[in-house]
Amino acid sequence: MDDMNLFEAMYSQRSFTRFRPDPVPKEAIEKIIDAAIRAPNGGNRQPWEFIAITDPEVIALVGEVYKEVWLNALGHEAPPGETPAYKAARYLAHHMPDVPAMILICADHSGTSPTTEGEPFVRGSQASSVWPAAQNLFLAARALGLGTRLTTAHLRGEQRVKDILGIPDHVETVMLTPLGYPRGNFGTTQRKPAADVTSHNRYGNRG
Ligand SMILES: Cc1cc2nc3c(=O)[nH]c(=O)nc-3n(C[C@H](O)[C@H](O)[C@H](O)COP(=O)(O)O)c2cc1C
Repeated sequence: MDDMNLFEAMYSQRSFTRFRPDPVPKEAIEKIIDAAIRAPNGGNRQPWEFIAITDPEVIALVGEVYKEVWLNALGHEAPPGETPAYKAARYLAHHMPDVPAMILICADHSGTSPTTEGEPFVRGSQASSVWPAAQNLFLAARALGLGTRLTTAHLRGEQRVKDILGIPDHVETVMLTPLGYPRGNFGTTQRKPAADVTSHNRYGNRG
């Protein structure tokens, strides 16, 4: 399959929850991480770490933590009127233990700079630098026909995830994305029009 163009990837970058069981080739994972690390980042310190999880036993362990903390936080039964976004999230929570692959995107806080040296360990300072890389990764995955979903619910059980994967204290886990070839139909992302959130020259001047 030819790589799709950038705008096609952006407009079809749904937050996927349903995946075919096919494994994700190692070359594809390497390619999307290589695209991720091209992203801008503070002082070019590149404080990211990507943990590609393809071993079904490890996926099941991490996925079970995710499932448990998500359901405990948001309820084991769907409340009446649950929104489509939460219905999708709930479906994923149930299926996180059997997704084809996962990438845990982390921020390494061990780097120091004139601006961060001596500061206490501040969650988020290095983590801000991994968000642009994550978006690169999502788009690169889409370009290869893969689906991802940005999730953070595992943070409610972060230490358990870190223990499973042997992640040291100075590395913060920022987001966990399932990765696989999408199953079923999916449309483009549904968003309010850009014109509704764009000002021209002065705040609120919708032009
Ligand atoms: C900061 C952030 C955290 C998120 N955390 C979760 C999560 O823990 N679980 C989940 O299923 N989706 C999570 N999402 C995905 C959103 O729910 C999803 O992007 C939204 O419903 C829009 O879906 P769409 O892109 O398919 O239109 C998160 C998204 C963002 C940006």
